[in-house]
Amino acid sequence: MTTTRQRLASIEAFSKLTEGIKDSFDTEKVRCRICITGCRAFGALEVCERLKQELATRGLAEEVEVVETGCHGFCARAPVMEIDPWGYFYQGIEPDDIPAIVSETLENGRIVEKLLYSPPDGGEAIKLASDVPFYAAQKKRVLRNCGQIDPRKIEHYIQRDGYAALAKALAEMSPEEVIEEVEAAGLRGRGGAGFPTGRKWSFCRAAEGDTKYLICNADEGDPGAFMDRAVLEGDPHAVIEGMLVAAHAIGATEGRSSI
Ligand code: FES
Repeated sequence: MTTTRQRLASIEAFSKLTEGIKDSFDTEKVRCRICITGCRAFGALEVCERLKQELATRGLAEEVEVVETGCHGFCARAPVMEIDPWGYFYQGIEPDDIPAIVSETLENGRIVEKLLYSPPDGGEAIKLASDVPFYAAQKKRVLRNCGQIDPRKIEHYIQRDGYAALAKALAEMSPEEVIEEVEAAGLRGRGGAGFPTGRKWSFCRAAEGDTKYLICNADEGDPGAFMDRAVLEGDPHAVIEGMLVAAHAIGATEGRSSI
């Protein structure tokens, strides 16, 4: 995948960059996506390290990409790994399981049965993440990139249409239009009061004064729920992009982040 180190001078340059990143993304490449945030408490870092070593030893480091991600959602089965392009889901992995994963699954396309999820009611072991009932019933929106991308790589975010909303807001929409669209979408705060986001932005825009301050409050109001934390750890560019769209809408000239 293309690495991103240049300053972009225009929206057109950003579109070109996005196109290049998408074109170079090989959907057929084998990728092991491993959660290394909360799952590290159960040894995910050791699992990840062992996988990289094993791939290097067997000369597969170029063929198989190890993607270190944020939370996949199924934390109770930590450490978890999904393997693309097949969508296999392995759970409760230990470092000593890695040689079998590499020789069976990655080299020969065979499943390592003991790492599959088995429903507590005694049903059949499940191969694909999309068939695990916990995932099958979900449609992720806010967390859509968590578990899919390496949050430290901006090109992973851009490959999944990251910063496209900001580009559209800056190139095609006035601040008022952005606010109208956010109001029409019905977006509300998630802290409990559910205050309409578009209305909040319109108050900020109408406020007197040349300098507006935009504060991203990522406080965990609900101890142990890790709602904001999961987004910040697994998809931080989504937060930055949201902040920049809001800055355009309210006319902010200063940004502040409090976490
Ligand atoms: S912390 Fe690893 S799946 Fe949630």
